[in-house]
Order: sequence, then C-alpha cells, then structure tokens
Amino acid sequence: MSTLRFPNEFAWGVATSSYQIEGAATEDGRGESIWDRFSKTAGKVEDGTNGDVACDHYHRFREDVALMKSLGIKHYRFSIAWPRIFPTGRGRLNQPGLDFYGRLVDALLEAGIEPFATLYHWDLPQVLQDEGGWTRRSTAEAFVEYSRVVARSLGDRVKKWITHNEPWCTSMLGYMEGRHAPGLKDYRAALAASHHVLLSHGLAVPVIRSESPGAEVGITLNLVPAEPASPSAADHDATRHFDGFFNRWFLDPVFGRHYPADMVADYIAAGHLPPEGLTVVQPGDLQTIAVKCDFLGINYYNRAVLRSTAVPEARNEPRKVFVAPEKDWTEMGWEVYPDGLRELLLRVHLEYRPRKLYVTENGASYSTPPGADGRVKDEKRIAFLRDHFIAARRAMEGGVPLAGYFVWSLLDNFEWDRGYSQRFGIVWVDYASQQRIPKDSALWYRSVISENAVPTV
Ligand code: FCB
Repeated sequence: MSTLRFPNEFAWGVATSSYQIEGAATEDGRGESIWDRFSKTAGKVEDGTNGDVACDHYHRFREDVALMKSLGIKHYRFSIAWPRIFPTGRGRLNQPGLDFYGRLVDALLEAGIEPFATLYHWDLPQVLQDEGGWTRRSTAEAFVEYSRVVARSLGDRVKKWITHNEPWCTSMLGYMEGRHAPGLKDYRAALAASHHVLLSHGLAVPVIRSESPGAEVGITLNLVPAEPASPSAADHDATRHFDGFFNRWFLDPVFGRHYPADMVADYIAAGHLPPEGLTVVQPGDLQTIAVKCDFLGINYYNRAVLRSTAVPEARNEPRKVFVAPEKDWTEMGWEVYPDGLRELLLRVHLEYRPRKLYVTENGASYSTPPGADGRVKDEKRIAFLRDHFIAARRAMEGGVPLAGYFVWSLLDNFEWDRGYSQRFGIVWVDYASQQRIPKDSALWYRSVISENAVPTV
C-alpha cells in the first residue's frame, strides 16, 4: 500500500463549536444567544430542535477530551460562547462561564492536546442583537472587550486564537438569506454586518496578542472555489460575481486590498448599497482590518458552478448549478469535490500570501448508523477525508504553507438550521443516552495521525 507522508510538525486536529455541542443552555449564568432565540422560533430549524442539550459536552467535556486522547488527536479547535462570559454582551462578567473554559483548556493540556480557541462561532448574545447586532459598530467594540477578557484569562495557556468563524455565514446567512440567526433578509444590513465583523477582527487581533504573549492569531474564512457552467461571457461574469460575493469580499480587506471595487459597483447597481457605497466604513477601518495575522484558517466543503440568470434585472444573482451526479453528494446536498481544496489553497497562497494556512474545517455529513455489532462503518466518510487530505498534500507540494488540518467534526452535533438530521462526526452520538461511539473513520483517522501519512489506495 502506498502512502503520502506529511511534514513532522503537521497539526492533525478536530473541530467543534460551542452552540453545536455544549448544551447546558441556561446553566451557570449563561445568557441567551441569537441561536437560542432563532432555533426556538417556529419554522427556523428543519427538525424543530435546538442546542439546549446538544451533546451535553458542558457536562461531559472530560470524557470528550479523554476520547480525543484515545484517538491520538493532538489539536482541538473549539469555540467560546460569548453569552457564557458576558450574558448581556458586555458589562457584567460571568465568572462561572469563564471558569468552564479554564477547566476545558486545563484538561486538554493535561491530555497533550493543543487548544485552538475560536472567539466567535455565531452565538452572539441576544441583548446585542436587540440593539442591531453586527449591523452596529458598537457590537464590534463589545467583541473587542469580550476578546480581551477571554484572552487575559486563558491566554497563558491558549496560544492559538481565531477571532471569527466564517464571516460570510455570520453576515450573509444571518442577515441576508435569513437561514441562520438572527434570520433577517436585508442585503444592506448584511453588508454592514460583514464590515463590522471584519472590523472587530482587526480591532481584536492586537488586543489578543497583548493579553496572550507569543500567541498566534488568525481568522477563519469559508471559501468556495467558483467556476463557470459554460464558456459563455455571461457565465464567466456570474462566476466573477459569485467569487466576489463569497471569497474576495472577505479575503481582499483582510489582506489589505479594500473591498473589491467590482462588487461595490454590483451592489450599488442592484440596490444592495446606496449610490455612495458602503457608508459604514470609517476612515482607518480598512487599515485596521488589514492587520497582519499569523495564519489564515480556511473551511472548505464544496465548489460552486455558476450559470448566469436569464432575468436581466437579477444579473447580480447568479444561480449555482450542480454538474456532479447526486451519488457524489453528501447528505447536506453538497458535492464531493476534493480537488477544489487543492485549487483553493494554491489560489489563496499565490494571490494573498498568508504567512501560514490551516484547514480549520473539512468533513462530510453521512448518517450511517451503528450496525448490529455496534460498529459504524462510515466508509464514505473515510474516502471523503482521504481524498481531501491527499488534495491538501498536493497543494503543499505546490508550495502552500499548510500547517494543519481540522476535521469537522469530533462529534455528531446540532447542525444549525438542519438540526440533528445531519451527522458530521467521526464519533457517533446517541442523543438519547449521550453515548459516544467512535466511527470507523475515527479509527482510520487515528492511524493517519500516528503514521503521519495518508494511504493513497
Ligand atoms: C460550517 C460551520 C460549522 C458546521 C459546518 C458543517 O459552515 O462553521 O459550524 O456547521 O459548516
């Protein structure tokens, strides 16, 4: 059997997020988040569920850390729930909430697992949303204070920090498409939100560095390689627009290039921005956002193939089409396209030159249940991960400074608007008993980590 080796210091990990696994929604003084409110609003989550209990990780974190250790996992990306720290977003600190993460971090370090902490994985305190959420500059300011307090408390032990997870989802899914909390459908609000999220990142990076000496700080973007459905000029233009909407709108300002001018023009033309453009930008904001980071995190799940729409007034709303047969989709309805990861890593490396990259999420939803023997034979997930690991390794051969890879996810968990119907875990969670069963993919991953190599056949 041939294998593809990875560099010795390559960081293999798994990722989770607070609202998706913790549960204990009202415990130890935790405040309400926009996801509590949203998931309890009828019709918002497909199966009518919420994160009140989830994987009960808040109570079972020691067991989960031991599980990771037994799987040979050495790096863990998790997120901190802002409403556990500041139940109303700012002001009164809730020490028991902060203490929880202190215990988690200590348990990780004791198990030889390096913590990668994400400060914002979507659970905004509801009180801040009531003031307008990310459409308001004051939310960015509150985020900086929250980051300061967390970094001051954990920064002696946590040396890898991620400010935001997927600003595209926070702003576009949350404020424009309305599929995520807070559930608005307002393009102008979404664009304002995107700016304040990025601004809060730029403001927080130096603060985290000063509170956590020697730490590395970055941001995670979800990026989607885009290609035209046909060689037509219209499909090329649809692809340009989609790439601008999804990727460049976030990459460009983070790497010091301002918001892409073609997109500002498209948004003005479509009425998504007033003729003056993005008016929430204040002098100095773009320099703040362009703060040099130690790494960029990329979450990769799929590509987009674009076809221009036939409706002229909707020129700026290209349609995504599927060219791959349904058998090559995961249960999320996402096409399996490993080579997109290679392309994406190379493109980001060549065009933006981040100092270092991590794949901070990649994984697949397959619901394969335990068999009569109790084993979860999730072969499709193994093939998915293997092919994506290989694609990442190929990108590294092309010079990409990829330092690590986090599989989404350690556990089956609450998949946002899809509820518990989607299972991304390498560990099966029986929600009724909270029993964890490592799937075959977890056992396979353990051998990848211990060999530091991926079998290619
Ligand atoms: C990403 C999210 C993560 C998870 C995966 C499937 O967009 O960051 O929380 O839901 O998708």
